[in-house]
Amino acid sequence: MSGFPESDRILDHNRRYIPGGISSLNRITNPNIAFVRGKGSRIWDADGNEYIDYHGAFAPQFLGFGHPRISAAVKRVLDNGSDLWGSGPTELEGRLAELICENIPWVEKLAILNSGSEATAQAIRLARAATSRDDIIVMQGGYNGWHNDVAVNLMTPLDRLGPRKSPGEYDVHPMSAGIPTAHESLIHPINYNDLDSVRYVCERYRVAALITEPILQNIGLVKPRPGYLQGLRELADEFGFLLVFDEIKTGFRHSFGGYAEISGVIPDLAVYGKAIASSYPLAAIAGPSRWMDLFAHSDPAQRVLLAGTYNAHPVPTAAAVATIEFLLSDGRALYRRLDTLGARLEEALTRQLAAHNIEGIVVRQGSAFVTFFMDHAPVDWHDLAANHNYELDTAIRLALLNEGVFFFPLATKQCSISAAHTEDDIEATDQAIGRALAAVLVTR
Ligand SMILES: Cc1ncc(COP(=O)(O)O)c(C=O)c1O
Repeated sequence: MSGFPESDRILDHNRRYIPGGISSLNRITNPNIAFVRGKGSRIWDADGNEYIDYHGAFAPQFLGFGHPRISAAVKRVLDNGSDLWGSGPTELEGRLAELICENIPWVEKLAILNSGSEATAQAIRLARAATSRDDIIVMQGGYNGWHNDVAVNLMTPLDRLGPRKSPGEYDVHPMSAGIPTAHESLIHPINYNDLDSVRYVCERYRVAALITEPILQNIGLVKPRPGYLQGLRELADEFGFLLVFDEIKTGFRHSFGGYAEISGVIPDLAVYGKAIASSYPLAAIAGPSRWMDLFAHSDPAQRVLLAGTYNAHPVPTAAAVATIEFLLSDGRALYRRLDTLGARLEEALTRQLAAHNIEGIVVRQGSAFVTFFMDHAPVDWHDLAANHNYELDTAIRLALLNEGVFFFPLATKQCSISAAHTEDDIEATDQAIGRALAAVLVTR
């Protein structure tokens, strides 16, 4: 018995009918905890425990649980007879696309889909169609979804990955059985922050696209070195591949125009998800008409198939419109507020680590942060995997659970602050961190 008996009962029941008992198996945690309610910055589990949440459901809970404006927009759709018609255009999809195209200068067209994986799959297909090439570059330590092109080389153990290769490419290490080996030859995983390896691959293969999170946020938070993203832009122009920014985690969270806006580097295509619809299932591909209009090319042989029964379903689309209108309504004050809260939490974590004589470094972008238990901020997965203290990271996350603070209990997973978090939440978290670190030191 784990101390979460009701959570265990739910998982045991589900296991009889669902493989592994959970519909997305990256939600499995040890201990197993089933959540039943959320409000603002707080979540409650099936055993009645309350937590200040910093998981944000893997980041879509940007405005906090049950934000009144989002809930009201969704209720309006349910009450006014709107539904999924599967025929003809809707005003709602046009409104969402207009809001984004009018407010992100380089975006001229938007395609609306249901999930981040769909968006990255479509972006890669669009890039292949645009360039008449097949090969793609992905980042070791980047996550871009579950499909064949990208479900490779995330947290590859170093004993499988081998020594650092630069310039060079790593072998493909699939995250899933069932990816055709023939397909693997089209995928080229390289280090993040490594322009020499991009050139190395481009000189050997006909590269259609390089897809990357502008900041790696699925292995904690690994930032681009100064000039790196600009260097990718220049290599894309030199070799003629499309630069695809996977802004599923960074888009709308770090600034309205995502990390492209912050870095000033304009990709050929960007994909958005998560924060765009405040936890409702919606994702999008955005870009200039030059590429996006391939979805509607008059020549069927050049047209890229864009189809989906549930694309722009009114419930998530209404949630997205309400989110975007909210973000636009306050002169971007939310981003400044979240940065202030983030800085306060970063200061608390840094101070508490020092007070407890624990080596670690907090890496943060606005409302997203992680602590690496090593002496420097990692530049890529190889660096992180070789130096991070996983055992300590896990122990601290478990100790925080006991203190009513939910950091996803898996080492290196990135944390998120939402618009619903308050100064009091951060203060309470500061105290909880102090107690958790003391508790971890006692057991070591
Ligand atoms: C950066 C990034 N890209 C793509 C995806 C895939 O999105 P989804 O899970 O909605 O398919 C994720 C999911 O975590 C992600 O973090």
